[in-house]
Amino acid sequence: MSKHEILALIHKIANYGKENLILPTAMKYILKSPTTEKEFNDYYQLRFEILRAPWGQEKGSEKDELENQSFHAMIIDEEQSILAAGRLHYNNNKEAQVRYMCVKEEFQNLGLGKMILQTLEEKALSDQKKTIVLNARETISDFYLKNGYKKIANAPTLFGTIKHIKMKKNI
Ligand SMILES: CC(C)(COP(=O)(O)OP(=O)(O)OC[C@H]1O[C@@H](n2cnc3c(N)ncnc32)[C@H](O)[C@@H]1OP(=O)(O)O)[C@@H](O)C(=O)NCCC(=O)NCCS
Repeated sequence: MSKHEILALIHKIANYGKENLILPTAMKYILKSPTTEKEFNDYYQLRFEILRAPWGQEKGSEKDELENQSFHAMIIDEEQSILAAGRLHYNNNKEAQVRYMCVKEEFQNLGLGKMILQTLEEKALSDQKKTIVLNARETISDFYLKNGYKKIANAPTLFGTIKHIKMKKNI
């Protein structure tokens, strides 16, 4: 376990039950787009570990055909370890879509997901998009509700079990 994983765990235990957890102040992190081969490998690996492997999906299922045309955001710590990731692509001139939001397990509920989502939203806004849509896992739709998204429809069930809800935010 890295120094930051230990710090994050201590912080979570000390604050157990309290709302609005934020990162331990001793923790440094960098918010960026992946650029190097290592960063892209880590970025896709985190997606795989958090969003695909627990459901028995194969390596490769963490990517789609839009990767080259997408905006990618990641958070790394000062030891270059990846903590969080998320992707934005454009469906048309007005609409952006968020996909593959994921935070390393030990670092969930510390505000990192919100930071990634805000970065994706700022990018969409700077490219003159008017709305953002996403298909949220039903179990985490509250995360998106807290970030200003509204439920607009049921979305396809993934891997036969994970119910999704289509959500939308005007930006
Ligand atoms: C969902 C996920 C991206 C959220 O990122 P995070 O860093 O854990 O969330 P944050 O700490 O930024 O939380 C922001 C707010 O959303 C809430 N929240 C976070 N995860 C939540 C969940 N699973 N259910 C309900 N609320 C949640 C937090 O309590 C926080 O609320 P507050 O602002 O009132 O304190 C992350 O937990 C994750 O990767 N989960 C597993 C993978 C997954 O389901 N990805 C989404 C696919 S659609």
